[in-house]
Amino acid sequence: MLDLLRVNAEKAASVLSESEHAVAFTGAGISVESGIPPFRGEEGLWSRYDPKILELNYFSAHPEDSWKVIKEIFYDFFGKAKPNIAHITLAEMEKSGFLKAVITQNIDSLHQKAGSRKVIEFHGTSEKTVCMRCKRKYDIGSISLDNLPPVCIACGGVLKPDFIFFGEGIPHDAFEESIKETELADVFLLTGSTGLVQPAASLPFKAKQNGAFIIEINPERTVFTEGITDIFIQGKASESFSLLSDFLFDEG
Ligand code: APR
Repeated sequence: MLDLLRVNAEKAASVLSESEHAVAFTGAGISVESGIPPFRGEEGLWSRYDPKILELNYFSAHPEDSWKVIKEIFYDFFGKAKPNIAHITLAEMEKSGFLKAVITQNIDSLHQKAGSRKVIEFHGTSEKTVCMRCKRKYDIGSISLDNLPPVCIACGGVLKPDFIFFGEGIPHDAFEESIKETELADVFLLTGSTGLVQPAASLPFKAKQNGAFIIEINPERTVFTEGITDIFIQGKASESFSLLSDFLFDEG
């Protein structure tokens, strides 16, 4: 298995080194080895928590209950996560000119913490909260989560994490930027996404339609694998990116 992984990582590295505008598209799987569980799969968050806590109507009606679970999952637990070699390699690739942007579905900010500069957060971020009434934004570090729900100091409105809930639209700027990068991409590097959530999952298909070469890293086959993937590196993010890094930066 490792041989096939090496062969495909070497092929992917040569495609990426010759690319003009490679773009990465990441999902929860890239952060699993940083200790953040995925949403789906046997260890998935949705097998332990009810996704309704992230439904806008439920949150608006039960902000305290919702915030209790949100705090447990996304702040008490995620807050201590560190970037792994996959996030770090993507940042190195950007520095060396092999990558132009990361479009991520993740809200954990691990790409930025790894040093990536052009990161498009398609589903928003857990690093900020927004007032449901006056729309003022607060860095998560500037508010207390001791009393829930946290409220806006300006108008007393309930604060909501600045990531999208089920039923919410994609942040406008992130959507526009993602479409632009998808249309420019000649290589799309997909990592750690089931491809089950729209409209995010339509981006790799759009890239393919525009003629992009699709490289996918995932231990499991996905809707992308069957439909559009040109090189499927069947492995975990860290082992795959460690090999990719060796071949890209000639340490291999
Ligand atoms: N390395 C790489 N990929 C992995 C690893 C790993 N170590 N472990 C698991 N995966 C893969 C799984 O095989 C699966 O394809 O990561 C994917 C995780 O799938 P999801 O949890 O569905 O993650 P994602 O596709 O990002 O979910 C999309 O759903 O709930 C919403 O807003 C949430 O952004 C999220 C969206």
